[in-house]
Amino acid sequence: MKVLFPFLAVIILAGLAFIGVEGLRLHVLFGVVIPYLAALIFIVGVISRVVRWGRSPVPFRIPTTCGQQKSLPWIKHNRLENPSNTLEVIGRMALEVLLFRSLFRNTQTELRDGPHLAHGSEKWLWLGALAFHWSFLTVLIRHLRLFMEPIPSMLSLISSLDGFLQVGAPVVYLTGVVLPAAATFLLFRRISKPQISYISLPADYFPLFLIIGIAVSGILMRYFTKVDVVSIKALTIGMLHFKPVIPTGAGIIFYIHLLLVSILLAYFPFSKLMHSGGVFFSPARNMANNNRRQRHINPWDYPVKVHTYQEYEDDFREKMIKVGIPVEKD
Ligand code: HEM
Repeated sequence: MKVLFPFLAVIILAGLAFIGVEGLRLHVLFGVVIPYLAALIFIVGVISRVVRWGRSPVPFRIPTTCGQQKSLPWIKHNRLENPSNTLEVIGRMALEVLLFRSLFRNTQTELRDGPHLAHGSEKWLWLGALAFHWSFLTVLIRHLRLFMEPIPSMLSLISSLDGFLQVGAPVVYLTGVVLPAAATFLLFRRISKPQISYISLPADYFPLFLIIGIAVSGILMRYFTKVDVVSIKALTIGMLHFKPVIPTGAGIIFYIHLLLVSILLAYFPFSKLMHSGGVFFSPARNMANNNRRQRHINPWDYPVKVHTYQEYEDDFREKMIKVGIPVEKD
């Protein structure tokens, strides 16, 4: 059920776009109103979450470390595993964000015959996640050509590098194929591995189905139904200038693509997809470990009324002596 419901939700969304546009001719609603609303929810939602995270107090210096802290000059300091200043934190963070370094060291545990517990490396998840995120980013960057006129030469360069295999016409973009393939791999991994399926929720499957739906509709548009990109560009650029023009040559697949993208945008700030912003706010990663060099005082400290041992002994000295408990002061 937790797989079926999110899958059905994406199918129903695609069906809604189909009925809305083909049956009820609601081009303005699906082509303009919903995308605007989604963009608004995305922008306001992401900003308010980031501001809320930014405002959360972090009273303790709690970086996660797994290497030698900066210490005496003759002890080798591990700068990446135990960053001692902001520059080293940036280095560690960049490797985490760009190459998913901690995921690279992820291990898996299995119960084998015997029975015995086996621990092993789990590089496929790392590779799949890397392929997924990098191809997603490249597809997004390539899409900027739909929002820009003239198209910057950098974008054309990225597109031609991505299509360097020169297969067919229109040229097949590598990332356009890798994106749905990697998303499908991540989906099947979740479904097929009992330990992972057990801890997965509908909220884990929904974005995967949504992204696969977006990629499949995009591929259908580019290679099969052949959409009129010029009229779509009139819509996107018109929307950017708040003068939207309803495209004439955009088929139903475009509206399905656009509705799924709008849902993804509106869903983003409330979902696990916010990990893309959250990683930068993780105190365990974004802090330098200078705990020994510098004394950090909890800013929330307030004078606490304490009862010292001396006071305790003053209260109970005679009783303690009577039952033979040693005292500090006679
Ligand atoms: C999360 C955002 C999006 C994703 C992941 C995505 C994904 C894709 C993919 C994988 C393709 C197949 C071809 C390729 O690899 O480029 C595609 C094509 C396409 N997408 Fe998107 N898309 C997104 C947003 C949008 C938006 C906002 C629009 C327009 C308003 C759009 C319009 C199109 C069009 C017109 C094509 C066909 C392009 C062509 O024929 O060359 N997409 N999309």
